[in-house]
Amino acid sequence: MKIGFYQFVPEFGNVDKNIDTMVEAVKSADADLVVFPELATSGYLFLDPKEVEATASAVPGPMSDAFLKAAVETDTAVVVGFPEKADGVFYNSALIATHDGKVQVYRKNHLFNEEKLFFKPGNLGFPTFDVKGVKVGVLICFDHMFPEAARTLALDGVQIVCHPANLVLPGFAQITSCCRALENGVFWILANRHGTEDRKGRSLSYSGLSRIVDNRGNVIAQAGAADTGFYGVEIDPAKAFDKKVAPMADLFADRRPELYNKITK
Ligand code: ACM
Repeated sequence: MKIGFYQFVPEFGNVDKNIDTMVEAVKSADADLVVFPELATSGYLFLDPKEVEATASAVPGPMSDAFLKAAVETDTAVVVGFPEKADGVFYNSALIATHDGKVQVYRKNHLFNEEKLFFKPGNLGFPTFDVKGVKVGVLICFDHMFPEAARTLALDGVQIVCHPANLVLPGFAQITSCCRALENGVFWILANRHGTEDRKGRSLSYSGLSRIVDNRGNVIAQAGAADTGFYGVEIDPAKAFDKKVAPMADLFADRRPELYNKITK
């Protein structure tokens, strides 16, 4: 299975252009699974809820139709971060469009900083998705700082974690991508953006360095801090079923859940 990410600079507010850029990237990737950054259709640095409303998409709708068409035509599963409008509120979501004609959504559970001014926290739990017989989960950016989130997906049998991100804290996700992959024995695709958004006196810079990590915590593909492009690698996702790190040491069987969760507050 060939998995990958596309690192780029979404143009703030230019949803049509961003979708076109990503659809072209899917077409040229020649991969089974391509992950794009968080809020990749809209940009990240919102200053006013009206900007969220102006750039948000409902699913199904024209945005998901465009990605679904590309997914089916190219036999590729696509994961894309976008602002979602659902039932009159907004979520920081990821679309999962699969080659078999399905569109599904994950809604970010751990909102970061000022995102709380614009979005509701996720209400769908940690769903999983089938990509050609491989179980895939999605976490969005700040979700990576909560080991319980990745653990929940892994205990549910997820083999690949897709991690759309807009990273503004230096180096943290490069650490956690290796840790979460290693401690759970899963593959990890961190799809970050790069560039700087300057908006009315506010500025945020994004750190790039998207990467793919294998089920033992090794980086097997990595973009530079300011690279635009697709990066892909062949993996054997069945390796994620092997939780043994030594003949008598098993990441899952050796857990002691009876000792955990004693401190609840
Ligand atoms: C983040 O969650 N976008 C830092």
